[in-house]
Amino acid sequence: MDILRLDISAAIPFVDPDAIEKCKTKAAIANKSLYDKTGKGNDFLGWVTLPANVNESDISEIESVSQQLREISDIVIVIGIGGSYLGAKAVIESLGSSFDIYTDTENPKVIFAGHHLDEDYLSDLLNFIKTKRVSCIVISKSGTTTEPAVTFRLVKQHIETTFGKEGAKDRIVAITDHSRGALRKMSEQEGYKTFAIPDDVGGRFSVLTPVGLLPISVAGFDIRILLKGATDLEKVSNKNVPVEKNICAQYAIIRNILYGKGKKIEILANYNPKLHYLTEWWKQLFGESEGKEGKGIFPAGVDFTSDLHSMGQYIQDGERILFETVISIEKPYNELFIPEDTENLDQLNFLAGKRIGEVNKMAELGTMLAHVDGGVPNIRIEIPELDTYFIGQLIYFFEKACGISGYLLDVNPFDQPGVEAYKKNMFALLGKAGFESEGEQLRKRLVNNK
Ligand code: PA5
Repeated sequence: MDILRLDISAAIPFVDPDAIEKCKTKAAIANKSLYDKTGKGNDFLGWVTLPANVNESDISEIESVSQQLREISDIVIVIGIGGSYLGAKAVIESLGSSFDIYTDTENPKVIFAGHHLDEDYLSDLLNFIKTKRVSCIVISKSGTTTEPAVTFRLVKQHIETTFGKEGAKDRIVAITDHSRGALRKMSEQEGYKTFAIPDDVGGRFSVLTPVGLLPISVAGFDIRILLKGATDLEKVSNKNVPVEKNICAQYAIIRNILYGKGKKIEILANYNPKLHYLTEWWKQLFGESEGKEGKGIFPAGVDFTSDLHSMGQYIQDGERILFETVISIEKPYNELFIPEDTENLDQLNFLAGKRIGEVNKMAELGTMLAHVDGGVPNIRIEIPELDTYFIGQLIYFFEKACGISGYLLDVNPFDQPGVEAYKKNMFALLGKAGFESEGEQLRKRLVNNK
């Protein structure tokens, strides 16, 4: 088994020599309680052993629905927000070609909507799909989230107008709770194909359920290999693996020790723009799991080397409240050499004949050393290549580390009570029945703030 590598050597100088030792027992207990279901949020731990437990008939059903959608669609719109979209988006962006919108004729284009409320985006979307063979996968565990529900109304109307009520049944797939919520009710009424999200798997931990697997399969990627990667990572981080060998526990430990030393912001950095959405998924995973009760590392992300020309200054030289975790890819798929130029006006002939990947790697290593010199502890997560198997490993690695880390922080990593506050205000301001007095008070506050 080739497993991703965690390197914390460039963070060690920033922590007390015995700090890691002290934290090991707590981390082992945290990992064990994820399996024994004895910690906070223990009704949401289905993801812990999920990868190995997805059975053959579930995979085959996902693949068969995926094949049907692929055959009848140029565009498949995935409607969902938060955990109901970021995982699939992360995997598809990581594995796809950067320019597949122009070049990929084998796979339908998977696009995402329902993750915000922008009227112009949705107008553009409806214009874009007007003349295309379009299908839709609508995902909401609760079945009541406003953003995807509003978007689904528009897309459903378009599909029904274009393909008729009967045609819509082939083109709409719903992924939701097995019995509760408006989306489940509507799907049964309309006769849509449905997949259930397990009760004990929360949104941001659901990428390896149909929530992520169906869109990823529609986009043309092998979900069996993805699950294999996650399964292998689970094997090397299960409750019987000692902390010394458990990379998930080690990552959780070091980030919590750094947090205790005042490093309140963790920046996830990559040197391949395809990982941009993996960072977005990671931000949600850790932000929503740990940011509560006035605690938690703030998860931020950068795409290097692009962001070395924007955020690089702050990271090198700004307030010393940061640490950096780099996802490092050993080798690119392609070989591209820098050409010789007889004029050499840009004075770059010293690079002629070198691979672009080598230049990128030296940027990565040079940046790490500079940031460490600037007081930014560095953690490295190394994968040999950016492929489906290692993306599967990364997903499980971060999920498990997040569970352990949340327990080390002594929060419930599996709830998200803070997300309700904006929803309540939005409904009150929009005049939803039952929110009348809150609406009045909020409107007064808005007038007074002007
Ligand atoms: O992690 C979570 O639970 C959330 O981010 C949800 O995924 C998000 O709020 C969407 O919820 P739902 O799938 O119920 O529409």
